[in-house]
Amino acid sequence: MKLFITFEGGEGCGKSTQARILWRKLHQENVPAILTHEPGGTALGNEIRRLLKRRQGSHISPQAELFLFAACRGQLLAEVIHPALAEGRVVVCDRFAHSTLAYQGYGRGLDSTVIDTINNLATQNLKPDLTILLDTPPEQALARKLSLKDRFELEDLSFHRRVREGYLKTAATDPNHWLVIDASLPKRKISEIIWDQVSQLLPCPPSLRTESPLP
Ligand code: TMP
Repeated sequence: MKLFITFEGGEGCGKSTQARILWRKLHQENVPAILTHEPGGTALGNEIRRLLKRRQGSHISPQAELFLFAACRGQLLAEVIHPALAEGRVVVCDRFAHSTLAYQGYGRGLDSTVIDTINNLATQNLKPDLTILLDTPPEQALARKLSLKDRFELEDLSFHRRVREGYLKTAATDPNHWLVIDASLPKRKISEIIWDQVSQLLPCPPSLRTESPLP
């Protein structure tokens, strides 16, 4: 089977935790699956991630930032995502191309047509079967962040509000491929909502499975 699931959301929304819970649940259900993330997931991607997130150093222009994320994505596609899908694994990816539209498009103000073109090149036109958006008001999530903030977390509130608006607008244009969840719900409830939806996409419907509890 070929199933590509991505997680999206603003800072501190809990998507990495939920991506991991889903990946573990797939394993429990004997569904071959991998968990990966952006930016990163490859040796090259991890080096670029470090440059993109560091607080100090030379200023990165929005255009350069766009190409750096695209470079990470192109490498992750070639090295990790395509091979896993070709082997019939479910791929769970923490952030993907929609992050670029939200952050570099809505956040930085780069042209969405240009972003689409570059995203299509980097992803070789691969689109997620399902994107799970954990939606949260940025003021709440950023206030919770106590550790040292990275280059993106240091952006002002209006930037993060535009990112959120970008996600919600994009999700609204394609409701069949997006699942929008209120990130303030209890962690367990969120993972149940996600499993409900993902299990419908698996070849063997949930009614025929012996369900194991969520981790
Ligand atoms: P995270 O992996 O800890 O979420 O950090 C990644 C940061 O990079 C996060 O602030 C969102 C940002 N980002 C973009 O601006 N554009 C992108 O295309 C991606 C994948 C991430």
